[in-house]
Amino acid sequence: MNEPVLAPSLLASDHAALGEGAAAVAKLGLKWMHLDMMDGHFVPNLSFGPETLAALRRDGSKLFFDTHLMLSEPHKFVDAFARAGADRITIHIEPSYDHGAALDAIRAHGCRAGIALNPGTPIGSIEPFLGKVDLVLVMTVQPGFGGQAFREDVLPKIAQVDRWRSERRLDLRIEVDGGIELASAALCRSKGADTFVAGTSFFASKDRAAFAASFASL
Ligand code: DX5
Ligand code: ZN
Repeated sequence: MNEPVLAPSLLASDHAALGEGAAAVAKLGLKWMHLDMMDGHFVPNLSFGPETLAALRRDGSKLFFDTHLMLSEPHKFVDAFARAGADRITIHIEPSYDHGAALDAIRAHGCRAGIALNPGTPIGSIEPFLGKVDLVLVMTVQPGFGGQAFREDVLPKIAQVDRWRSERRLDLRIEVDGGIELASAALCRSKGADTFVAGTSFFASKDRAAFAASFASL
């Protein structure tokens, strides 16, 4: 099993002080930070853009930018996010565009590529793309907003990706995002998840070091 990675989501930090939010993540010795991009179309909300990533890089952040594109036309923004400093670009399966070409474009930029799916989307939809990604993001809430309740009904999908991973010997991380705190993370871990996005639970935690340590021993 891959070692657990905690990726705090900057969406839940103070948007007037994003650099401080990123610095707080790095200070704990964490390596990843999750960045949620929303277009007001694929999801009913807006958040950050490429300039946010670029500004965090200029501010000195060396974190691994785990960039989650909740966009109807993510292929149009791959170049911009890669140039801005994304390390991973994860795109959703639901909108209609050439997913394979977009994943190729992400990798051509030297970025890691991921594919994401919503709670209501059948897991079989992402199977054709397993050869082009090294991360599957199984959404554990309907995307668009932080602070929602974890959906236990997605656990079988995590288990299916884990089966594909072992049967086909894939080098793949399984990420979960939405309503993740220690108890829901442990449930996901028991099904094979290894990468945990935590927004509200991380930034609201009174003892972030202890919070991070508890994820490290999942
Ligand atoms: C949801 C986003 C998440 C969000 C998670 O649309 O993709 O990354 O920040 O927030 P919490 O951890 O608060 O559920
Ligand atoms: Zn996300």
